[in-house]
Amino acid sequence: MKFLLVILGGLALCQASYDYGDLINKSLLFYEAQRSGKLPSDQKVTWRKDSALNDKGENGEDLTGGYYDAGDFVKFGFPMAYTITVLSWGLLDYPNGYSKAGAVDEAHKAIKWGTDYFLKAHVSQNTLYGQVGNGGADHSYWGRPEDMTMQRPAYKIDASNPGSDLAAETAAALAAASLVFKTADPSYSSTLLTHAKQLYNFADTSRGKYSDSIGDANNFYSSGNYEDELVWGAIWLYKATGDQSYLTKAEQYYDQFELVEWDGKFDWDSKISGVEVLLGKITKNSKYTDKVKGYCDWMINSQQKTPKGLIYIDTWGTLRHAANVAFICLEAASAGISTSQYRSFAQNQINYMLGDAGRSYVVGYGNNPPSHEQHRSSSCPDAPATCDWNTYNGGQANAHVLYGALVGGPDSSDNYQDIRQDYVHNEVACDYNAGFQSALAALNEL
Ligand SMILES: *[C@@H]1O[C@H](CO)[C@@H](O)[C@H](O)[C@H]1NC(C)=O
Repeated sequence: MKFLLVILGGLALCQASYDYGDLINKSLLFYEAQRSGKLPSDQKVTWRKDSALNDKGENGEDLTGGYYDAGDFVKFGFPMAYTITVLSWGLLDYPNGYSKAGAVDEAHKAIKWGTDYFLKAHVSQNTLYGQVGNGGADHSYWGRPEDMTMQRPAYKIDASNPGSDLAAETAAALAAASLVFKTADPSYSSTLLTHAKQLYNFADTSRGKYSDSIGDANNFYSSGNYEDELVWGAIWLYKATGDQSYLTKAEQYYDQFELVEWDGKFDWDSKISGVEVLLGKITKNSKYTDKVKGYCDWMINSQQKTPKGLIYIDTWGTLRHAANVAFICLEAASAGISTSQYRSFAQNQINYMLGDAGRSYVVGYGNNPPSHEQHRSSSCPDAPATCDWNTYNGGQANAHVLYGALVGGPDSSDNYQDIRQDYVHNEVACDYNAGFQSALAALNEL
């Protein structure tokens, strides 16, 4: 009997299988933990309480709500909008992955927590608040968001201080979310679409990089360019409206801007591989589908990998990049491009994060998960216990389990240390979990 169990145990190790549905639920809990503002009565992450209830625009506009960016408490609009676009994308394309997990309602809530905030931040046709909280002031504080007292200035873009990338990404998020809520809440859906159209028009007519207008964002989420977001936003507007002129514009801008994917990244700043997979799906034109195939084939055959097989693109947030590549190639697979090869490649990348490399990189899940991730609120014991830089510097595990958060991840040799100070490898962020969660939804359908 004992011998049999050993054999069965060995088999289980060889064919590790992961509960993608459970992971989707946990990832959604991570987004709950990132909520800013007044929390609802059905909040499951109950160690988090109301916070930042005084977030306001320059004219007193209510800017409460939205998500804290990462381990900190700044609300950075650009990565937040990207997060909502990618979460919506995953739910739209893999609804069965969510329904099998029993997570559709919670996914709607996660998306709406972002879009409710974007509606507030879009105070007039050509004015959008793109950040609340000052990076320097925020980052000099270690403690709970519920207790913070520093000034939280709000920064905006408008026609004379443009931000085409931010406005077009927010338009994409609202357009994608309008599709998510199309039948569940038609009137909310149409409100989202109205704002999406206005924001896209603003993005297109007042050209510039948002991080030139919101100087503080330059230190944290400096935008490479806005051209990819203008194409990306037009595609999402086309998908949400069916209005051919948006598709014409997307294809025209794609040519005019000569978009070329060059660094392997799909992320908050780089949308080109996402643009190509969506245009490929919509038009079936080999001009785009060949690019997508080239991208995924490169990732499989030529991209640098760790010894254990993880795609290695950047020191910072390695796992987020690998998860995003996995999601793009799952999209390619669902479009009929090298389907079985891309699916198993993507699954291998995601499974690395879940335990295949010898440990879990998702907080609160699986074997030996991270417990010292760089994340302020979860590091703090419940009030009234002190939480300050001594908490940060201590070797103790975080006081609360931040379920579902994907950490930055290992270095190029699969080495990783679970220490709070190592923000390059051990921070967590809203944008990190977005492609990861959408890839989980795709895998949960298979
Ligand atoms: C996910 O959570 C929901 C409740 O929000 C629950 O009904 C469902 O069973 C969970 N799914 C899995 C796979 O654990």
